[in-house]
Amino acid sequence: MKTLTENGLTAAALARLGRTPNPRMKQIMTALIRHLHGFVRETGLTPAEWKTGIEFLTAVGHITDDKRQEFILLSDTLGVSAMVDLVRHRRLEHGTDSSLLGPFYRDGAPEQPLGASIAGNTPGEAIVLRGQVTDAHGRPLADALLDVWQAAPNGRYEIQDEHQAGMNLRGRFRTNADGRYEFRSVKPKSYPVPDDGPVGMLLRAQGRHPYRPAHIHFIVTADGYEPLITALYIAGDSYIESDAVFGAKQWLTVGYHKSRAAKGKGERAPDAIEFDFALAAAAETPRSRRPRPARSARPAARSRQRRAISGNIYSNI
Ligand code: BEZ
Ligand code: FE
Repeated sequence: MKTLTENGLTAAALARLGRTPNPRMKQIMTALIRHLHGFVRETGLTPAEWKTGIEFLTAVGHITDDKRQEFILLSDTLGVSAMVDLVRHRRLEHGTDSSLLGPFYRDGAPEQPLGASIAGNTPGEAIVLRGQVTDAHGRPLADALLDVWQAAPNGRYEIQDEHQAGMNLRGRFRTNADGRYEFRSVKPKSYPVPDDGPVGMLLRAQGRHPYRPAHIHFIVTADGYEPLITALYIAGDSYIESDAVFGAKQWLTVGYHKSRAAKGKGERAPDAIEFDFALAAAAETPRSRRPRPARSARPAARSRQRRAISGNIYSNI
């Protein structure tokens, strides 16, 4: 029998995949083995370090249950979730950028009339969010559904905080005949991802903070279009450039528009966020025939830079 060299061992492990019936599985496992073997060779990984890695992954498994998914958090903090999302959207028609779903989404938020507040009596600075949902060509989409959720100004989602009512800061809104939406809320604040487990230890060992910049999550859906999972990030937040999970993007960064005092009332209207969402058509369009993105979703100053960076758009689950 042959004694395997480093490269011979990789070749032997790859050869074992020869009878894998599912071609996609074969492709993925081939790349995984190549990269894992390459990683061990490149780092000169010691048995003690490999054991530490296994113990770490074991701890990630032990803390994971139906309420806490430490593996997804690990993927998020390593930038893998954001990468999967970018790669997926190579193939989609241009629309608004997407961003991470995160672990705090809850299905079944109440549908509310346009203009209503999702904030109940949550203490905080009131805001109004408004804009339009369009297709990738800027044509308004009536009856699109916006599913919205955010953390309270104390940095906690309703499911993490016994002092908030169930479904607080969550709501669903349907666009009107002009594709417009509007609702009220309170200004979000930056908050840490759960950092009391093995992923938190790993962040600290790397000298990293666990914070996400202030944001508001959206899932925007309309018949015949790709669901858009995204979030709007607040310009000027201290963590906008160093989001612990790599979700924040330039094109999803919004500022507050100051509103003037309402006529004759003397009281100031809430600050406003204005943002238009553009949805990609559900059917895949060959790259060469893709239409240009909607104007409203790609302000001129950003569009040049964006094309230079990637030429794609994305959303994620
Ligand atoms: C969030 O935005 O809710 C989130 C996303 C990824 C990891 C943790 C939290
Ligand atoms: Fe979030």
